[in-house]
Amino acid sequence: MANEEEEMVVTPWEVSGKIDYDKLIRQFGTQPLTDELLERLRKHMGGLHLQLRRKLFFSHRDLDWILDQYEAGQKFVLYTGRGPSGPVHIGHLVPWIFTKHLQDVFDAKLYFQITDDEKFLVQPELSVKKSLDFMYENALDIVALGFDPKKTVIISDIKNISALYDIAVRVAKHVTFSTVKAVFGFENSSNIGIIFFPAIQAAPAFLGSVLAGKNVPCLIPAAIDQDPYWRVTRDIASKLGYYKPAQIHSRFLPGLGKGGKMSASLPETCIFTIDPPEVAEKKIWNAFTGGRSTESEQRKYGGDPSICTIYYYFYYLFEESDEKMEELENECRSGKVLCGEHKKMLAERVKKFLREHQKKREKARDIVDDFFFK
Ligand code: TRP
Repeated sequence: MANEEEEMVVTPWEVSGKIDYDKLIRQFGTQPLTDELLERLRKHMGGLHLQLRRKLFFSHRDLDWILDQYEAGQKFVLYTGRGPSGPVHIGHLVPWIFTKHLQDVFDAKLYFQITDDEKFLVQPELSVKKSLDFMYENALDIVALGFDPKKTVIISDIKNISALYDIAVRVAKHVTFSTVKAVFGFENSSNIGIIFFPAIQAAPAFLGSVLAGKNVPCLIPAAIDQDPYWRVTRDIASKLGYYKPAQIHSRFLPGLGKGGKMSASLPETCIFTIDPPEVAEKKIWNAFTGGRSTESEQRKYGGDPSICTIYYYFYYLFEESDEKMEELENECRSGKVLCGEHKKMLAERVKKFLREHQKKREKARDIVDDFFFK
């Protein structure tokens, strides 16, 4: 488990330590999402989605340029993805929910890449078959979120490589081993599949242009750990004659344990979309909060929502109203309402969400094939 004193590590394959998001902006050389940019988004989006209002998305590259283009009548495509290392947990849904909102308000085509090859290559025990099973099961979660079937294409790298391969080899020709070594930390002992893989993850950024036969801007919503891929992609874009893809970066949704993001390798700290609602409830019951060790202390001194996982879940997913959010915070800080009560409230919402999501997920089995690249 990540702990507060541990040094921050943020790579596409590892996120640990206490995350300093301002430092990431400086380290990665991205831009903060300024109030000015948020105002521009508000105009186009008919208000601000809670993930923007609450700065879950906090950083970007070229989002201002995407909006310039859009305002000049040029639509953009969206590109996001998922590494199918296991079942989907609620933390994964957060940027996808936002992506769907972007699709709706900007009427944008979406390419959703599932990197079953990447996960196969980096996880020693994972077989191709297992990776493809996860790919399919994860695709059900994606479809269940309600993406528009007419405007959404899911790409399984292994199954649908023909969608990407011609772009990927063109990308790969311009990316040297020493570049990916420096960017991703690959070594001589890294398998050659993963060394080539960044070209595969770059490819969907140009797919909109390839399919349209003309340059189309692309916006990538993703957690900031994916940024190294986009640096490489942006570097070679003009060599292939395409626009650099723009990004909007999200924070990580913390797990239910102390510190760190929600991680599938710590199953007790994440709520999987396929968890029976009662199991999810138990996990919430055991979650780390900002509460005190005894009831009387908590009544006297109050709790600390700034470190509380229950608070985060309300904040980023389950409480839309800013006033109610403030109420929750005050109840906690004043010691008026104890953690048990707030856990109960959250558990009710999570259970309701899971029941609904699971129904849609089962229905998705009938239509998921229509979403895959053809
Ligand atoms: N590499 C990502 C992961 O492991 C999956 C991915 C592929 C992705 N393309 C993407 C994520 C585009 C965000 C945006 O999760």
